[in-house]
Amino acid sequence: MRIDIITVFPEMFEGPFSHSIVKRAIAKQLAEIHLHNLRDFTSDKHKKVDDYAFSGGAGMVMMIEPIAKAIDFLKSQRDYDEIIYTSPDGELLDQPMANSMSMLENIIILCGHYKGIDERIREHYITKEISIGNYVLTGGELAAAVIADSLIRLIPGVLGNETSALSDSYQNGLVSPPVYTRPREFNGWMVPGILLSGNDRLIAEWKHQQSLKRTQERRPERYNDLVDED
Ligand code: ADE
Repeated sequence: MRIDIITVFPEMFEGPFSHSIVKRAIAKQLAEIHLHNLRDFTSDKHKKVDDYAFSGGAGMVMMIEPIAKAIDFLKSQRDYDEIIYTSPDGELLDQPMANSMSMLENIIILCGHYKGIDERIREHYITKEISIGNYVLTGGELAAAVIADSLIRLIPGVLGNETSALSDSYQNGLVSPPVYTRPREFNGWMVPGILLSGNDRLIAEWKHQQSLKRTQERRPERYNDLVDED
């Protein structure tokens, strides 16, 4: 998968993509991330990429020209499956959306800023708008990093068997059961005996029951949907 990110703050991505699983996926060439500084696409001599909103109102709006130029440049190089805009009013990112997007080959993520982008970009270029939650961030960079991370870890070959995405919370609609590691006892707090029993069938059943219980407690609406499906 190739991800092209258009941003006014490319430095913000140095952290998220240079560690652990995402770093390895890039090293193994299972994922490619290309950062594009929006300021490189403006013809303004001060590299300005935002302007006042017509009719006033608080906050600056990202201008149409540099964004259109950046997207046109990328589209002239290859076809894109989705051109995504990060926005608090977009479709909420969830695991089914991440699963289906992880199959895509080429995507662009445009990071929003200020009071938003000129609406004509949304109308004529953007194919998908994504929010990572019902709260407002200072910009779309953190959202873009979250989206990229959630997709990259699902690309076949990125996670080993031990950390397989199949056992993730939400992958089967249930949240994950609790996990423990050594020592067996700490401050008198014991690891549940069943996990030390060596009985694979009972352990699997315990984990499933714990997943059900947690889902019912923490995501009751999801639990009710699952029960209704049966
Ligand atoms: N930009 C600002 N807030 C955001 C959010 N919650 N999701 C995606 N992009 C955003």
